[in-house]
Amino acid sequence: MPGASVERVEISRSALVHNIREFRRIVGRKRLFLAVVKANAYGHGLVETSAIAVAEGVDWLGVNSVEEGVALRDAGIGVPVLVLGYAPLGVLEEAADRDLRLTVYNRETVRRLAALAARSGRTVRLHVKVETGTWRQGVVPKDLAAFVRDIRKHQGLVVEGLSSHFANIEDTTKHDYPRLQLECYRTACRELEAAGVSVPMKHMSCTASTILFQEPEFNLARVGIGLYGLWPSKETYLSSVLEKAEPPSLRPVLSWKARIAQIKKVPTGAFIGYGCTYRTTRPTVLAVIPVGYYDGYDRRLSNAAHVLVKGRRAPVRGRVAMDFFMADVTDIPGVKLEDEATLLGADGRERIAAEDLASLAGTIGYEVLARINPLIPRVVV
Ligand SMILES: Cc1ncc(COP(=O)(O)O)c(C=O)c1O
Repeated sequence: MPGASVERVEISRSALVHNIREFRRIVGRKRLFLAVVKANAYGHGLVETSAIAVAEGVDWLGVNSVEEGVALRDAGIGVPVLVLGYAPLGVLEEAADRDLRLTVYNRETVRRLAALAARSGRTVRLHVKVETGTWRQGVVPKDLAAFVRDIRKHQGLVVEGLSSHFANIEDTTKHDYPRLQLECYRTACRELEAAGVSVPMKHMSCTASTILFQEPEFNLARVGIGLYGLWPSKETYLSSVLEKAEPPSLRPVLSWKARIAQIKKVPTGAFIGYGCTYRTTRPTVLAVIPVGYYDGYDRRLSNAAHVLVKGRRAPVRGRVAMDFFMADVTDIPGVKLEDEATLLGADGRERIAAEDLASLAGTIGYEVLARINPLIPRVVV
């Protein structure tokens, strides 16, 4: 592993480009393609990932916060950026200054934006979120027409889009609930149009819905996890295989590697790590890995996961601590100080997938990736 850091996250440009092309094939050219790069691009590095996505022809980027949008602008990225999360009242001015699109659903936000647009003469483009059954962000359909009309009264505020978000595609192969949400969204759009209000952009999709549903009425697709080479879930993969002629081929983009900090010979019967949760049953060679839960390596991987050393699996022994854990390399000859350990990704014929770590830790691949500490260098390879 070149460089001086004890660990690094490698981003495979070719895998990312491959996944983007797979989704462009599905999204087509008539719809805009928004890459969701929130949460540090699902752990892949906000700016590094966005630059590749934009160079590959992605039309829009989606972030969670104004802060992330500002980081994109500071990096010289000029494509439309939609803030999907909550923009606190105190950062609305900055969002407008940096030409970020905002997702809105609170009247107070609209009042503040109207005042700043009037004061500055700026145009602020808004995407109104419709509540269709996720009960997270959004305006309930019965209030939608009044909410949109109210925004349009203000010079400088433009309702550019109408968005919503699915609650339950990934967890099941039965898609009644998202179909109900789609129907709710369609009804809200029809009612809005009947009230004489038309909004140019409509979007509701995520990776799973982009793969599984025909979405002719949407003119923008928001794709996150699939770009990073993960299926949203086993259920989505299964649905896709059963229902689609040609499911996309996805390639994992991220690898996580560390240098071994010490090789240590341990006698039979020794307890390893905090809590003495593992006891050796033979003379053992341990590799001390300078990575812990602070880095995002979940403590629930204690005594459960493997790392790859020289293309072979080395089991994690004892508890994962804040900055260290130990792996058993007794059966891997010739391991030396600062040899590379792969925590996530491939080494030779072996691979540790984010989904593998997720199932051991009782979570989902999204969380495994998004939790990798943003301070660890991201290197595009
Ligand atoms: C509003 C919104 N749109 C789109 C996405 C992308 O979802 P996925 O990563 O499943 O493609 C997310 C992710 O959580 C989201 O919050």
